[in-house]
Amino acid sequence: MAAPDPPQFRVPYPDRLTGPTPPYQKPTEILSYSLDNDRRICYDDRGLSCYYEAPLGTCLFDRFETFKARDITVNEHLDNLLLSLVHAKASKALDLTKQPRFITFRGLLTRIMCLPFQNRDDWEFGATRYNGTIYIEEHLTEARLRSQPSTQKHKLLTYSGYRFETVSTVPVEPSAITGPDDPRLTERHGLDTNNMAEFNVVFRTKLGNHSILFGAEIDCVSHGMHKDGRSDRYMELKTSGVMTNRKGRESFQRYKLLKFYIQSYLAAIPKIVVGFRDDRGYLRKHHTFDTLKIPRIVRDQRFWDPAVCFRFADQFLSWLETVISVDDPYSTYTIRYDSTSRNISVLFKGQESGHFLPPAFVDAFAQ
Ligand code: A3P
Ligand code: MG
Ligand code: MG
Repeated sequence: MAAPDPPQFRVPYPDRLTGPTPPYQKPTEILSYSLDNDRRICYDDRGLSCYYEAPLGTCLFDRFETFKARDITVNEHLDNLLLSLVHAKASKALDLTKQPRFITFRGLLTRIMCLPFQNRDDWEFGATRYNGTIYIEEHLTEARLRSQPSTQKHKLLTYSGYRFETVSTVPVEPSAITGPDDPRLTERHGLDTNNMAEFNVVFRTKLGNHSILFGAEIDCVSHGMHKDGRSDRYMELKTSGVMTNRKGRESFQRYKLLKFYIQSYLAAIPKIVVGFRDDRGYLRKHHTFDTLKIPRIVRDQRFWDPAVCFRFADQFLSWLETVISVDDPYSTYTIRYDSTSRNISVLFKGQESGHFLPPAFVDAFAQ
């Protein structure tokens, strides 16, 4: 007997996503952790640094030859996020009596939310339902690997994003910097850049009726690394090419600002600093965006509308809850977005292919 067709969800056109907008609760930080230069998890904030503006004229292609890039063919699943929950539970720093309906990374939520406006890239996620919570991870597909930077130019551009972080941050409070000659400012230009170390925050929120717990990598704080009120001081750093004509400005507003906005809004990051570089990688301009004001910039041109993104995500998560029904930590589903048909399908894999919840997590959260 032929297997039944997998359930499918068609991504509607934006003008079909009308009606009330589901509320998005301001997320609350529940814990933080860091990854060191070898991507080992550390249950502390050692990966956090403060923003300190990089001088214009800094070359963001410098020291590319020393770049240590993370091996993206290694799938880390949700391991670090889930182990941080195990650790917090063991140290009684976490109360998950009200279990979230979804646990994932912010990057996946951003991808889902942007789909009504950015629908050209195929993607695949894996999912498991365990004690009523749906866990969603990214799958490394051939298409995803092919879309990784392969040309020297593309690699340099990706590197410049990480380099911007190195030259725009300091490991101390900005108030401790004595002036432009302070060694902690000058020394950062001689540092190597890697994308191994990270500072991560786990947030809890609600979109409509869906409670969500998600992990997000945070670039830096404006000042005040201590935990008190810190989530209002987080900042996102971005790079982009200098805009020289109308086409460039339009593309920035249509594509980049949408992603910047959704990514930062999800974690209530109030400020996004964009460093604009020229073709040779030199930093030419800074612009700080207030996250909440970004939709106004694109409203008149109707490039995108955040309400459409939230309506779509709400509908999609409701559908996902109905189709991901088998509650078993060792069973998985594959969620696949096909850009040609604009369909998202969900395939039940059972226990046939790699389950991804770490055993320590399954044990710690058994009921
Ligand atoms: P830019 O943000 O300046 O493009 P994030 O902005 O999320 O903090 O990520 C930091 C950097 O990682 C990015 O800098 C970019 O260089 C790289 N990066 C992020 N997402 C990527 C992706 N999907 N593919 C390739 N590089 C990516
Ligand atoms: Mg980042
Ligand atoms: Mg960034």
